[in-house]
Amino acid sequence: MGDRVVIFDTTLRDGEQSPGATMNVAEKVRIAQQLEKLGVDVIEAGFPISSQGDFDAVKTIAKVITHAEVAALARANPQDIDRGWEAIKGATAPRIHTFISTSDIHLKHQLKKSKEEVIRIAAQSVARAKKHTPNVEFSAMDATRSDVTFLTAVIEAAIQAGATTINIPDTVGYAIPSEFGELIRTLRQTIKGIEKVTLSVHCHNDLGLAVANSLMAIQNGVRQVECTINGIGERAGNTSLEEVVMAIRTRKDLFPFSTRIVPKHIFTTSRLVSKITGMVVQPNKAVVGSNAFAHESGIHQDGVLKKKQTYEIMTPESVGISKSSLVLGKLSGRHAFKVRLRELGFRLSEKDVEQAFSRFKELADKKREIYDEDIVSIVAEEIHRMPDRFKLVYLNVITGNITVPTATVKMEVDGEVIQEAGFGDGPVDATFKTIKKITRTRSKLLQFAINAITGGTEAQGEVTVRLEEKGQTVIGQGADTDVIVASAKAYINALNKLEYRKKGLRGL
Ligand code: KIV
Ligand code: ZN
Repeated sequence: MGDRVVIFDTTLRDGEQSPGATMNVAEKVRIAQQLEKLGVDVIEAGFPISSQGDFDAVKTIAKVITHAEVAALARANPQDIDRGWEAIKGATAPRIHTFISTSDIHLKHQLKKSKEEVIRIAAQSVARAKKHTPNVEFSAMDATRSDVTFLTAVIEAAIQAGATTINIPDTVGYAIPSEFGELIRTLRQTIKGIEKVTLSVHCHNDLGLAVANSLMAIQNGVRQVECTINGIGERAGNTSLEEVVMAIRTRKDLFPFSTRIVPKHIFTTSRLVSKITGMVVQPNKAVVGSNAFAHESGIHQDGVLKKKQTYEIMTPESVGISKSSLVLGKLSGRHAFKVRLRELGFRLSEKDVEQAFSRFKELADKKREIYDEDIVSIVAEEIHRMPDRFKLVYLNVITGNITVPTATVKMEVDGEVIQEAGFGDGPVDATFKTIKKITRTRSKLLQFAINAITGGTEAQGEVTVRLEEKGQTVIGQGADTDVIVASAKAYINALNKLEYRKKGLRGL
């Protein structure tokens, strides 16, 4: 057993299963490149059989990633495995990740298969994947609610068939750290051949214990942790990469292990994923929340001023949060902007730099100081947007306490320019109703939130909207110094995502 913990990132697969977090191919590629820069060992790029869009994304990622392994998820059947391989075969280091459930409840109600069948399917699937690549991971889905004797038998069959990584998922986030640690210990003691493979865990956060369970597993011999940026993922999410990595680094006394993660890229990665997925990072989120290093009470401030370590167990700089994130202003030139983009981890083409720079100049005209968060927002907004069916051309809103709020909106719909006006209960309502009229869409607004990206009254307002149509939920985001314009952008962004979904371009 080595002293390095392999970081397997599943932001692009399990993370994308967060309601509304669908990403297009360009957005996924951008995140994959950032994950590689962050130093993750394995990027689970998607579930190729689930849709043509996911297949294309995995295939493109496999081509552009040069160091990290690229994994494709596949259920335990020949079609999934072959399709997964088709998508990743161009990768420098491809991995097939195949899985089947092992709990009684899944066998009886979902798979409708006997235990003998599941053992046979697990072995056959690993063997099929092995024909394509030596690098095969097997997951026993719902492992923590499975009968341990049966779980052992399935894993032994997978190892005999050639699996090189065995993953123990806490699929429904049910485990408690002490019992999860005990399960890992038992499996390591009883499974024949376990010493030949890398043992992995994949924990969900339904009881808020995903990070604690992953850490407990490491202490009991696990050497791969599956996780996502900002902990996004199915339901309450997955183990948060930044939390587990910083726990290992900060508590070296308890975790004498290393990872390949470069912590100074954590913050940029977190913000990029948040912008692209529309999943806002809660202010009190450990490591990357906006309050994670803010000391409010007088006693704490006094202590930190005297000696930082009195109330700080890690520095904001260590995870890439610069103390003074004020970077550029109206007079900054193209070169300074380009350098800052690179420092923030963006590797853009000349054309994209130009596009981002002209948006930066527009923003700098309205807002004197441009912060890192503004730059991340510009890049996510301008460069990593999916091809849009709907575009905002012009917006004028008349509002006040003695007038009926009225919006005049001009938009491009499939290249055709359409203008309409409409009333509403407030300026945002008038704008949304008019956009709805122009786009002839029927979605329902589930959530609307405004957040100031940086401080001050001239800060950019960042609006997040959640829309629902025929059971599909999407999140849209928009940023502008004018919150009504930001709202219109967010609404149109969400409508474009719904269009994307209608074409069947989505993940699991
Ligand atoms: O939660 C889970 O069990 C999974 C598997 C596919 C690994 O996501
Ligand atoms: Zn999962």
